[in-house]
This record gives sequence, C-alpha cells and structure tokens, in this order.
Amino acid sequence: RQREKDTLFEANAYATKLYHYILRNTAAGTPAMDYLRSRGFTDKLIEEFGIGYAPSRWDTLTQALARNNFGLDEMERGGLLLKRQEGEGFVDRFRDRVMFPIHGSDGKVIAFAGRLMSAGQPKYMNSPETPVFNKSRTLYRLHEARGPIRKLRQVVLFEGYVDVIKAWSAGVHNGVATMGTALTAEHASVLRRFADEAILCYDGDDAGQAAAQKSIPILEEAGLRVRVGMLPKGKDPDEYISENGPDAFMREVIEGAVSTVKFQLIYLRKSHILLEEEGKIRYLRSAVKLIARRESPTEREMYLKELAQEFGVSIDTLKQEASEVRRQEK
Ligand code: UTP
Ligand code: MN
Ligand code: MN
Ligand code: MN
Ligand code: MN
Repeated sequence: RQREKDTLFEANAYATKLYHYILRNTAAGTPAMDYLRSRGFTDKLIEEFGIGYAPSRWDTLTQALARNNFGLDEMERGGLLLKRQEGEGFVDRFRDRVMFPIHGSDGKVIAFAGRLMSAGQPKYMNSPETPVFNKSRTLYRLHEARGPIRKLRQVVLFEGYVDVIKAWSAGVHNGVATMGTALTAEHASVLRRFADEAILCYDGDDAGQAAAQKSIPILEEAGLRVRVGMLPKGKDPDEYISENGPDAFMREVIEGAVSTVKFQLIYLRKSHILLEEEGKIRYLRSAVKLIARRESPTEREMYLKELAQEFGVSIDTLKQEASEVRRQEK
C-alpha cells in the first residue's frame, strides 16, 4: 500500500517536472506560454506555482513514464494515464492543457488540474480520486498557505485555481480553493485547526453566490467566523485584480468583506422588488427571519435598527417580529 503511494508521489513529481520543462523550454510549450502571459501570469508566478503544459500528443507522458520504468497499470490507477479505448496500452490523461500541480498536506504532488487554452469542454480536467488524492479533504494551496493562515488566523476561500494564484500575487498568501467541488465539513474542520476566520471570495455570479450561501453554515458549524468578499456582478477575483489592481482587491474585497448577515441581506434583496409595498413587506419579513436566527442580541439589534431606519418602520415592531420567529423556531 505505502509502496504504491510512494511510487505515485514519485510519478507525480516527475510529471510536474516534465510538464514544467515542456512549458518553459520547448517549442510545443510556446502557445501555452503566450496564453499564460496574456492572462497576466509572470515568470515568478509560473515558477512559484510549478505551472506546466501537457502537449496535445497522445503519449508524451506515457512514453516518458515507460522510459523511466514506471509501471503503466499503476500510473493509470494513479490518474496520470488512461486505458486505450481500443487495443492494448495507455494514453496520457491530460492533453493540450496548462497544468496546475496540487500538493498534499506534506507538500508532495498528489494530483493535477489541467486547463484547456481554447473554449471547449471540460474547461478544467482534474485528476480522479486515487490512493493519494481525496477531493473532499484536499484544498488547493493549503500546504503552502498554512503558515500565513496560522499567522493571520484567517483563511480566504476561492472557487478557482487562477483566483488563488492571482490573489497570491496581490499579497493574499492565505488563500486556498476547493477542487471544483463543494466545500465539505472535512475541509472546514481542517481549516479550523489553523484559522478563526474564513473569508469567502467566490465568483460574483449566481453560481458563486449560491455556493457561498452553502458554504457559510458549513464553516460556521466548524466554529469559524465568516465574512464574504463582495465582487461586482459577473466578476471573479482574477478579473477584479486585472481590472482594478492588487491594492483595490486587498482593500475593497478582502478588508471590506461583509458579515454573513449583510451578505445574505444583499442576496435576499435580489429576489424582491422593493419598488412595491408588497415586495417591501415580503423582503422585510424574510430579512427579520434571517436576523432573528443570529445568536447575539447585539448583532440582532444592530441589523434590525438598520432595517427599521431604511424602511421607516419602528424598531420595536421589528423586534417583536423577530422574537416571534425565535419562539417559533425553538
Ligand atoms: P470557473 O469556471 O469560475 O473557472 O470555475 P475559473 O477558475 O474562473 O477559470 P478561468 O479563469 O476561466 O481559467 C471555478 C472552478 O471550478 C472548477 C475548477 O476548480 C475551477 O477553478 N471547474 C470549473 C472544474 O473543475 N471543471 C470545469 O470544467 C470548470
Ligand atoms: Mn522553472
Ligand atoms: Mn465560476
Ligand atoms: Mn471563475
Ligand atoms: Mn476566472
């Protein structure tokens, strides 16, 4: 068992080196370098994140692994190769993709994410689960970000690999991402060991906002305080940084991250038409319900006061309604 794992670690380290070499030193890697530069990846970022390129040929890695006496059956179980559809033998799993190595908790490469450079599906291909790669436990960059997370007692959660990388270049060194899957209780409890606070910095589209809604209770249940970094509609952190620069990202999005209640109120607002009385009332009801669920009386008072002022109703009425909700939900 352990022998097989060690072999997979060795093969992953070898593949990382090969893909990086191809990107940096071969003609096959030139279009990928152009692509990365056009997306604002500097040499420093490419080195720091060990980025590489898997050429479009079917057997670049297969041949190289065979030359280095790796057992190809084992490499298939390790997620690097695929069985040929017809006939015998194996082919490369990752072809014509920019390669992002993913490190495990001890710093060894346990998996890869490969991005197509052109439009096409799937945009990202991730390694399958293998003896060394468990998706619901793995967080991209956690090994490298652990130090900064501990020091700040804070972690920033992103949706995308590129967001983690660009945020790192903007000075956010405590950023991690899930592997294209939902955040799990396992992820949250790992993070709780190093952090007291999590900042959710998901994409500013519907999918990102819905994912944030789902992640909030998971993080809170693990005992983390949660705030949400707000991005303009349709923008993800990478795009925000490219358009507004690193300082604005740090100040507006990270430092300016709002409480979960604020975020949920903003989110709730989008599904109500506040121009009409009826819409206002419905919004107020849902908003009070949301606020009523907060455990801290100070917090409840604060948000109810804001609502009361904004909608020109008395705080006492809202408090009464909130108590009613609390009683019902007990
Ligand atoms: P996004 O579609 O937001 O990608 O998916 P992105 O990170 O902004 O990618 P770029 O900027 O276009 O390169 C967010 C994350 O969802 C997962 C990946 O983890 C990705 O980083 N994903 C997305 C997949 O696993 N497969 C896909 O086909 C697409
Ligand atoms: Mn290099
Ligand atoms: Mn997205
Ligand atoms: Mn995105
Ligand atoms: Mn993006």
